[in-house]
Amino acid sequence: MGLLLPLVLCALAVGSGATSSPQQVLNPSHLLSHDCNNSYVLSFADITLEHINKDRKDGYVLSLNRASDVREYREGAKISTYYFTLDVLETGCHVLSKKPWKKCEGRLLHESVYGQCKSLLYIHRTARILYTLSYNCTLRPVSRRRIQQLCPECPSPIDVSDPKVLEAATESLAKYNRESTLKQYSLVKVTRASSQWAFGPSYFVEYLIKEARCTKFQFSCIFQSPASEPVGLCKGSLSRNRIKTFVSVTCNFFESQGPAFGDENSAVDQGSAHLPKVEDSQQKKAGPTYAPPIATTGPKGSVQYLPDLDDDKSQSSRESFPVHLDLTTNPQGEDLDISFLFSVPWRETMMVLPFPSKEHRSAECPGPAKEPNPLVLPP
Ligand SMILES: *[C@@H]1O[C@H](CO)[C@@H](O)[C@H](O)[C@H]1NC(C)=O
Ligand SMILES: *[C@@H]1O[C@H](CO)[C@@H](O)[C@H](O)[C@H]1NC(C)=O
Repeated sequence: MGLLLPLVLCALAVGSGATSSPQQVLNPSHLLSHDCNNSYVLSFADITLEHINKDRKDGYVLSLNRASDVREYREGAKISTYYFTLDVLETGCHVLSKKPWKKCEGRLLHESVYGQCKSLLYIHRTARILYTLSYNCTLRPVSRRRIQQLCPECPSPIDVSDPKVLEAATESLAKYNRESTLKQYSLVKVTRASSQWAFGPSYFVEYLIKEARCTKFQFSCIFQSPASEPVGLCKGSLSRNRIKTFVSVTCNFFESQGPAFGDENSAVDQGSAHLPKVEDSQQKKAGPTYAPPIATTGPKGSVQYLPDLDDDKSQSSRESFPVHLDLTTNPQGEDLDISFLFSVPWRETMMVLPFPSKEHRSAECPGPAKEPNPLVLPP
């Protein structure tokens, strides 16, 4: 997150002067519609996506492909709430790696998973709070039918519960353990699998591993910690021809989480430190430190995986990427208690509006996509 600091400081400086920008149109629900290629707005889209990735325990880090819609609700000069609709792509990093999405490699077209996220980002400029209040995402794999037309040889996804998949994971991890000098690892779960026919069947797998209870040499078992958190993600393959079996494996270990593993959702960690310090009477009264909420924040959202659009007949009459983020249905909005973000004795609230429909989005939306192939862009 260190890299974001100059960007956000700069973005906030620009933002204060951007109020009368011609791209911003006030629509009936008092929401400003932003241009989806506005770098100030995109810097906040980056941040909310980091928050989403950090909040998740499962799946792969999502990267921003393009902003599809951006609205802002302002409460005075200090407070803004952004309503983001973002088109996203899965990267090759597992969320447990805690890697920022910009440091994660994207996936090749034939193994892409893409979709859309909606999120609400609350910004309090003087209290230096950037907080993603809620999010929801829906993802689907790229159309297998279209990929087979473009690349008949490409591996295609298979069910992770296929026994061949488990065999490939087990064999490749066994190879890793044989070559490992001391520590031994065991399989947590397979996170992705595909297969291909080339001179014989080939299986490609990705799976989480944890430290096994014993190391290679029995005598060191007593030093083994009982921790069972996944410690890394391995990519392996198993292929056969008539004569021989080929096994490959590479593992990437997550950076150590330190003693506060699982603490990543706190408001302070969510980025309040990224906002510039501004002198303000309220802040002086409260003191310079804002304590993180302790267990006041439940799950803030979820990521829904749907099947390939071609296989999903039930979707034909509905939206292809349904994402709902409705904190209220009251068109006038609702006050939401967010005192947990501030260590102040009084009640702090924010205004939450129904999530805006596409209808009044800026003509400059969606913005340009980093990966413009229509196969990985939600309609
Ligand atoms: C988007 O913004 C970047 C710079 O901020 C600019 O180089 C690019 O041409 C813009 N693209 C579109 C489609 O407006
Ligand atoms: C997020 O999506 C789930 C289902 O995918 C839904 O149950 C939940 O209500 C949604 N959250 C909000 C705040 O709308």
